Amino acid sequence: MDYVKNAWYVAGWSAEFNSELRRVTIIEENIVMFRNSSGVVVGLEDQCPHRLLPLSKGKLIGDDIQCGYHGMTFNCEGKCVRIPGQTNVPRSSRVTAYVVHEINHIVWIWMGDPSLANTDNVFNMAEFSDPGWHAHQGEALHLKSHYLNVAENLVDPAHVSFVHPTTLGNASSENVPVDVSTAGEVIVAWRWIRDAPPIGFFKEFGGFTGNVDRWHYYYLHLPCTAVIDFGSANTSLALAEDDRNQGVRIFALHFITPVGPDHSIDRWMHLRNTAVGDDKVSDKMDTMFKVAFSEDKEILEAIQLEEKRPPRRRPIRIAIDKGPAVYRKRIRELVEAERVHDLGDPVDPTFVHHD
Ligand code: FES
Ligand SMILES: [Fe+2]
Repeated sequence: MDYVKNAWYVAGWSAEFNSELRRVTIIEENIVMFRNSSGVVVGLEDQCPHRLLPLSKGKLIGDDIQCGYHGMTFNCEGKCVRIPGQTNVPRSSRVTAYVVHEINHIVWIWMGDPSLANTDNVFNMAEFSDPGWHAHQGEALHLKSHYLNVAENLVDPAHVSFVHPTTLGNASSENVPVDVSTAGEVIVAWRWIRDAPPIGFFKEFGGFTGNVDRWHYYYLHLPCTAVIDFGSANTSLALAEDDRNQGVRIFALHFITPVGPDHSIDRWMHLRNTAVGDDKVSDKMDTMFKVAFSEDKEILEAIQLEEKRPPRRRPIRIAIDKGPAVYRKRIRELVEAERVHDLGDPVDPTFVHHD
């Protein structure tokens, strides 16, 4: 499967977790999650080692989960603490406990080797805690699409002119080439459209009437977190590329959770340097974003269906595909490296000579 295991994935917004047992599926693994009495979110393998009933069908007794079939009980570390009908608890009776980290009202989970989990590597941005910025969480958009197709759409600024003509794009950007940088850890694709009419989004939120300079920077953090930095400024300001904070600037964040080969969740939110504290603006932006994201959903789900049909041709690549192509290559390399690692050390063969 094309999943990177040693990575942090979003399990949900903080508000999605409480003392109810909740089943979450990430890279085809089922996890039971809940918030314990200390307020910490716990994630355990969602399968009882006895007769395999999902633990999410059991119930919480204090901070332990009691299986709904024969009552085996597991603590937050996944250790079995009770087997009804016997006093000894074999050491093997346990479930996997996942490393969970909550920050910026987002719950992240490490899906790989727990000894490699480093919370310093959880995605973060200074703007989350900057009073000059407003953070607003949106919804969880379910897509019947492979996560690589979803993520690749988020490092592809060229599609907005055609897919989002009323919100995020317009015809003036159709032929503007895309710059791509793949040098660092993060893949970046961007373009500026200078001295052109504002797009719908910034007519609404920037109040622009005359021509603007508009930018679109797509940052893709592996494996599948995307930051879209977009904004506009009056053309008369002749904004330098690094002075984007002087314009109306929005970061649209997309946290993609791969569920399975045909299902991904896109939890989207935004950070903005305008209308700070104004919930009405947040609601209006949500409405516009939802128009755009349902346009992406329609495209991505249609592509997924085509990909499942017997292939008639290999897809061709065009100039704007550089970001997506490098992204897929990087994911392939990470998946391959984990696979080789899982095989362990090379086998040392013993040769026996026969005379
Ligand atoms: S299936 Fe869980 S205790 Fe039997
Ligand atoms: Fe899009």
